[in-house]
Amino acid sequence: MDSLEIIGGNRLVGTVPISGAKNAALPIMTAALLADGEHVFRNVPDLRDVHTMTRLLGRLGVQAVYRDGEVQMTSFGDIQPTAPYDLVKQMRASVLVLGPLVARCGRAMVSLPGGCAIGARPIDQHLKGLSAMGGRVELRHGYVEVTVPRGRLRGADITFDFPTHTGTENLMCAAVLAQGRTTLVNCAREPEVEELARVLNKMGARIEGAGTSVISIEGVESLHPVDHAIMPDRIEAGTFMVASAATEGDMLVDGIGFEPLEAVIAKLREAGAGIEREGGGIRVVGSRPIRPTDVITQPHPGFPTDMQAQLMMLMCLAKGTSRITETVFENRFMHVSELNRMGADIEINGRTAVVRGVDKLEGAEVMATDLRASASLVLAGLVAEGTTHVRRVYHLDRGYEQIEKKLAPLGARIKRVAGNA
Ligand code: EPU
Repeated sequence: MDSLEIIGGNRLVGTVPISGAKNAALPIMTAALLADGEHVFRNVPDLRDVHTMTRLLGRLGVQAVYRDGEVQMTSFGDIQPTAPYDLVKQMRASVLVLGPLVARCGRAMVSLPGGCAIGARPIDQHLKGLSAMGGRVELRHGYVEVTVPRGRLRGADITFDFPTHTGTENLMCAAVLAQGRTTLVNCAREPEVEELARVLNKMGARIEGAGTSVISIEGVESLHPVDHAIMPDRIEAGTFMVASAATEGDMLVDGIGFEPLEAVIAKLREAGAGIEREGGGIRVVGSRPIRPTDVITQPHPGFPTDMQAQLMMLMCLAKGTSRITETVFENRFMHVSELNRMGADIEINGRTAVVRGVDKLEGAEVMATDLRASASLVLAGLVAEGTTHVRRVYHLDRGYEQIEKKLAPLGARIKRVAGNA
């Protein structure tokens, strides 16, 4: 497995283009299961998770070809509604095929994703919704099997116990072809949910309220294929913003506006970074001292859990103590022990990490088993004294498009080393 070698200490200066959003591309690709014909998705990031999704959709009967940021997907109507373990285990987001499959075929068998690095992540809310819409849900041999005795789901009023991002997306996809109206209450309000609704509406669906906590969907008889460019990745953008703040850099994070990043921008400003709109992007100027700041992760529009590890890295260098509380996932502090090995002073107290700022971090051999945790270690390497090796780049490749190729032109001394564990 490849690793990244980083020699820390350089300021990052220049412009970085932001890629299409992983967490928008994945559900949008599954929407191809809902309509026959040829779909084209543009600005699709070249990521491991995207390629896993093309393979999975191929197995289900949708031919998907990825070329230069564009995915062409052709569905001839012969959908096989079984998502096998060997692909689902590689990517939890595979569960996103469940809603579209049940809507389209009246049945689906999807391997349960199992535990993952950041917590148990059950799908009870997805299943509760499908069952309210007339699906019969059974768990058999590690698979969740949903069958619709009437053949077609029917609209229902469903209240989530708490906002779930992929749960909202799955039920929205299930409801677009259902008979009658579905009302989803306490929905996830992430911009990617709104983007999926935009795509489904372009395909002929009738969805209102996506981006708010109540979404209403009037089922239609059929949908048609779509051509759509994916929105920019707010988490990739946020990660580069932290890189600029941490390295006393001056970076234009290009191709994304303030709106999806309000909570991140507020925290970076509290920490002392200068952040302004510039052209079609966001300019971030880092300076010292970094001020401590407390953070509680929350569903959108709160501070995103997907930026928690990166912000914690910044707080390692603050003048004072910060408290970072993770409320979305129960086990998302894998970066802590690795950051401590680089000289950070972080103590975990239940769901809160108490981060006492230190003067400097030191390069080390590190590794993490979660995408965003790995990103925080790359950021730490950029500011650390000496050389850092981030092992298992595999995880980064799931969610960041060629991170080293974007960092190097900004002045980072970073290279990929093939073949290390
Ligand atoms: N949960 C349940 N039951 C459910 C669904 C969720 O208990 O039926 C719990 C989860 O275990 C978790 C919380 O609810 O504790 C929130 O989970 P959510 O369902 O919102 O997360 P997700 O849909 O599985 C998506 C993103 C994650 C991101 C979270 C939170 C995709 C493909 N994944 O996951 O992205 O962290 O929402 O915003 O959209 C990442 O990109 O690194 C990543 C992990």
